[in-house]
Amino acid sequence: MDESGVSGVSPNNQVRIFDTTLRDGEQSPGASLTSAEKIDIARQLARLGVDIIEAGFPAASPDDLEGVRRIALEVGAPDGPVICGLARAAKGDIDKCWEAISGAAKPRIHTFLATSDIHMEHKLRMTRAQVVERVREMVGYARSLCADVEFSPEDACRSDPAFLVEVLGVAIEAGATTLNIPDTVGYITPGEYGALMTRLIHETPGGKDVIWSVHCHDDLGMAVANSLAGLVAGARQAECTINGIGERAGNASLEEIVMALQTRPQVFGLTTRIDSTQITRTSRMVSNYTGMHVQPNKAIVGANAFSHEAGIHQDGMLKHHSTYEIMTPETVGLSQSNLVLGKHSGKHAFRVRLEELGYELNNDELVQAFKRFKELADKKKVVTDADIEALIADEFYGPEELFALTGIQVTCGQPGMPTATLKLRGPDGVEHVKAAIGTGPIDAVYQAIDHIVKAKATLVEFRIAAITEGIDALGEVTVRIRREENGKRTFGGHGADTDIVVAAAKAYLSALNRVLAYTGYKGHPPEGEAAAIKVSSATGEPA
Ligand code: KIV
Ligand code: ZN
Repeated sequence: MDESGVSGVSPNNQVRIFDTTLRDGEQSPGASLTSAEKIDIARQLARLGVDIIEAGFPAASPDDLEGVRRIALEVGAPDGPVICGLARAAKGDIDKCWEAISGAAKPRIHTFLATSDIHMEHKLRMTRAQVVERVREMVGYARSLCADVEFSPEDACRSDPAFLVEVLGVAIEAGATTLNIPDTVGYITPGEYGALMTRLIHETPGGKDVIWSVHCHDDLGMAVANSLAGLVAGARQAECTINGIGERAGNASLEEIVMALQTRPQVFGLTTRIDSTQITRTSRMVSNYTGMHVQPNKAIVGANAFSHEAGIHQDGMLKHHSTYEIMTPETVGLSQSNLVLGKHSGKHAFRVRLEELGYELNNDELVQAFKRFKELADKKKVVTDADIEALIADEFYGPEELFALTGIQVTCGQPGMPTATLKLRGPDGVEHVKAAIGTGPIDAVYQAIDHIVKAKATLVEFRIAAITEGIDALGEVTVRIRREENGKRTFGGHGADTDIVVAAAKAYLSALNRVLAYTGYKGHPPEGEAAAIKVSSATGEPA
């Protein structure tokens, strides 16, 4: 027990928050991000106060390497977060990782090798002795390049604990400064994870001189509980993602870990450097960029997380908010104010509200955003914070606008043939107009877009939601699309407008723009040429 009464070996009760949204999170099906989006998210993570950003897996593709390199240079300032890259325990991966992160003021190499019998036998085809030697060599090599080295024994929670102790001892001897214990397949339970962490910290030679880290996946819905158990046992770094996105069922959610520590100090006695008022904004940014919708009942950041529906609850809340509220919406950056701005509000008031919400726009962007705000205020009596955030996301976030929507007209009804006429401005500045008939107005719009963009994709998910209450609410559409050329990879898109057909068109177009950016769009085929768009073949899915 340390001085706070919390069991563990570290006298330091500050937990380092290691955000892996841009690496493990981006491995979620459909969560692919452009490098510009990754930089925006990295900047927001720095504002949120994360200690370490795992910016990507540089050896996965030249695009990943470039994304990490730019984050290292643009976000990795001396007073900013550590910028970390992932590398398999192989010289080539470590070299690429170092190339990507070395521009950061505080770089970290995170290298990993599986230690479970299942992985060593079936995936690596290596013996225990070979794994130990590879760890010694590769951690040593990483340490020869970078003073900050993290090692992860992949599938640690299904590994023989005695073998883990041996491998981790070798990693420390070779120079690892942080040891991460991944529950790669989301298999362990909180009691077991806490006990494993305690054993590793106490039995591994040199274990008391390094930082221990938790990294849990959510396959059985226990990622956050497991992470907290590991912290209670003495780990002082938590690896997690915004909105809990990640491989399969996802990773432990950053906002849940942070708010559990912040709301129950008497239980955990642990702190973080996170500015929790930035949580909502970060969550919305990640959801908008990845196209991964946050379920309404998600803890901390779900739309219903602070709503009180039952009469008895509402009555209690009116008498005193503490009756049914264990944390206030303001602590996570959710504004209470509903009546924010309206059509009589001026640019100054709009700018002040944007600043309060944490947006720093330059003059041109402010003019552009204010124009959108005025258009919205003309259609909608009350413009709320959520409306403003959706508007900003729609206007400024998202992939490069290779094709932009410049006009849309739809006729539909019964009987009749839903028809859409679309005007899109292409990357060459030329305006293309096409009309199409569909089974409904959105099908007609999507067919017209397909005719122009010539990058036909399959729609695998279409979701529509109202941002606020009321018949005049902004409609928000999220789509996910797949193209055969890109294998299993799916791409998300997002659009918001008071007209849901317009929002749907914007969402589909933003997903297509993301596909084109990912595949290296080389230009528009001349009219009448075969429908195949000129793209370079996609390379390098992360291993
Ligand atoms: O889940 C996992 O095992 C990982 C490692 C690469 C740390 O993400
Ligand atoms: Zn993971």
